[in-house]
Amino acid sequence: MEIITQPDSQQASLIAAGIVARTVQEKPHAVLGLATGNTPLQLYRNLVRMHRDSGLDFAGVTSFNLDEYVGIPPAHPSSFHSYMWAHLFSHINLPKERINIPDGLTTDVPAACRKYEQAIRSAGGIDVQVLGIGSNGHIGFNEPSSSLSSRTRIKTLTEESRLDVAAAFGGEEGVPTHVLTMGLGTIMDARKCLLLAFGKKKARAVARTVEGPVTAMVPGSVLQLHPRTILVLDKDAASELEMADYYAWVHEHKPDWQKY
Ligand code: PGA
Repeated sequence: MEIITQPDSQQASLIAAGIVARTVQEKPHAVLGLATGNTPLQLYRNLVRMHRDSGLDFAGVTSFNLDEYVGIPPAHPSSFHSYMWAHLFSHINLPKERINIPDGLTTDVPAACRKYEQAIRSAGGIDVQVLGIGSNGHIGFNEPSSSLSSRTRIKTLTEESRLDVAAAFGGEEGVPTHVLTMGLGTIMDARKCLLLAFGKKKARAVARTVEGPVTAMVPGSVLQLHPRTILVLDKDAASELEMADYYAWVHEHKPDWQKY
């Protein structure tokens, strides 16, 4: 794992945007795995700016989002569809027909999940998967106890995860109980994983992900088995890492050819 710690989320998000942008520049038909939540907002703002000001071109790109709530229509203001259009898709030239988000309204969940996995394979696999992390260590909506080899499927949200998004649904009562999410096995198939985490609230999950044992109780820890995972952190999210000084030294002394 490569750990990059920056003084704040703004600087960290610039680095993350640089990694995604470089992927798209080097491979115009890149396949991006995208995440929602508060964490990637600044990353998306940077990508929108790079598209507008520097012509970063998404015309050949395909995207796959990690997850969507079950039973929530795409037009619902708190759906992940709405989030993605509001923060990224409306502002860049990624063709609508190559945007993929799980269908939370499907009447045949197993078939829709199989189709999603098939679509990722047909697109050639994900080049870079953007990830946030829950305070309980989830990535995507793979809650603790998720199989480390799981594929796209329905998951039941934990109470902690439902509380985290309660405000967006007018209180806990309104929060959906289920989601469709890429599995940990699906995420592990990405050629590169880019996990962002900001703030003290994420510090424990980050430390357990990087330095704890690989366990289904901390789903992010499966990334220890991924050959190309980069974590981009602010200093609060990095504050419980035991080997923080070592990671900083490694980053500062990396030869240019090896960066990201
Ligand atoms: P957040 O959520 O970015 O809103 O903190 C991350 C997650 O739960 O995966």
